[in-house]
Amino acid sequence: MFAGVGLALVVTISSTALCYYWAMKRRKMRRKRAELFRKNGGLLLQQRFTAITSQGTDSSAKIFSAEELKTATNNYNETRILGRGAYGTVYKGVLPDETVVAVKKSRVFDESQVEQFVNEITILSQTDHPNVVKLLGCCLEIEVPLLVYEFIPNGTLFQHIHDRSGPRSLTWEDALRIAAETAEALAYLHSTAAIPIIHRDIKSSNILLDENFVAKISDFGASRSVPFDQTHVTTLIQGTIGYLDPEYFQSSQLTEKSDVYSFGVVLAELLTRQKPISVGRPEESCNLAMHVVILVNEGRLLKEIEPHILEEAGEEQLYAVAQLSVRCLSMNGQERPIMKEVASVLEELRRSFTKEQTMRKTDEPYNEQGNLLREASSTSSLHRSEGSTQLSMEAEMKASCQTPR
Ligand SMILES: Nc1ncnc2c1ncn2[C@@H]1O[C@H](COP(=O)(O)OP(=O)(O)O)[C@@H](O)[C@H]1O
Ligand SMILES: *[C@@H]1O[C@H](CO)[C@@H](O)[C@H](O)[C@H]1NC(C)=O
Ligand SMILES: *[C@@H]1O[C@H](CO)[C@@H](O)[C@H](O)[C@H]1NC(C)=O
Repeated sequence: MFAGVGLALVVTISSTALCYYWAMKRRKMRRKRAELFRKNGGLLLQQRFTAITSQGTDSSAKIFSAEELKTATNNYNETRILGRGAYGTVYKGVLPDETVVAVKKSRVFDESQVEQFVNEITILSQTDHPNVVKLLGCCLEIEVPLLVYEFIPNGTLFQHIHDRSGPRSLTWEDALRIAAETAEALAYLHSTAAIPIIHRDIKSSNILLDENFVAKISDFGASRSVPFDQTHVTTLIQGTIGYLDPEYFQSSQLTEKSDVYSFGVVLAELLTRQKPISVGRPEESCNLAMHVVILVNEGRLLKEIEPHILEEAGEEQLYAVAQLSVRCLSMNGQERPIMKEVASVLEELRRSFTKEQTMRKTDEPYNEQGNLLREASSTSSLHRSEGSTQLSMEAEMKASCQTPR
């Protein structure tokens, strides 16, 4: 009996100790979470959210708890990985209400980025455009912040252009529509959003396609908002080789024209179905931007267009898009069109394409070609007279050709 009391006592004491231990641990974890939340800009974010909601503009973004997202992604199970990018891993998640989401987990997080990060979330959560991926919310209480986006099911534009094992290859109609949608979204970001946003990493792998093949611009990890009173900002160079604006590369002065350049490369990709960097092409053309300029300049464009595209699109459409691409790829940012103009040119081309399809024309396919060619070559001669910028960029491009990513 004495032993029984002793045992009970031991059990009581040890369970009390255990409870105490757990309580301490829980408290410590709570404190750590709160601290991380603060570190990651949670308070700042809450302030902004309160400000936004009190203004009456309904912000649909919410702050998720770490637990919610852990459950949604089945503890970040490998089978849920949708893709890996330069900055992190994206997981497929399912919320309790069965909404399918994409959860992006950054790899590293630099404390100096907190304010910018918070800024980005605030802006994106207010961004509302059918061709921009919607940010549903974020979680700030773990070491690296998590971003929660709407789930876009049909892969990236890059996959659809370059991965031939896919279910279907893009038609010209799709290509033109996707280009127009992307241009619209960029024009919106540059000039219609509350504060102009420069994406900074426009490329075909950052254009996602939904179940209806509608384009959605994603990955605002590098994007920056530029207050209206600043015409440009100086930044650390960021972007992807093959899409990177050479002028920005040289000057570090970021303007919305850098997005225009990158978009020009995407147009070239849609046109030629070739990769932005390829060692398969002659050395001076290993960069697709250069390649397209040379092709248009020398009147050899049509030879490199896939037969089924040539057949569907017709020469006039192809030259018009090539010319637009070449204008976007101008070495001098000021000579590039603004996205609003790019979007309206593409919209116009779409309209005439639909019209042509309904009454498949037979007369004068060369009508405008001479004209287009002349304009295009004057743009590209400018390309060539650009001295040192061109040289250093060329060196960079060659280097990247020798060591493809
Ligand atoms: N909203 C989304 N829906 C579905 N898949 C996505 C979504 N966002 C990203 N992905 C997938 O994850 C990959 C990497 O995402 P991305 O944002 O490009 O990462 P990073 O910024 O690190 O480059 C994409 O190529 C895409 O396949
Ligand atoms: C990931 O999910 C699969 C299937 O749902 C499961 O069998 C597996 O055990 C999970 N892996 C981990 C590490 O939890
Ligand atoms: C989207 O992807 C699904 C599955 O991968 C495929 O079955 C479907 O055809 C695709 N949709 C389009 C429009 O290609």
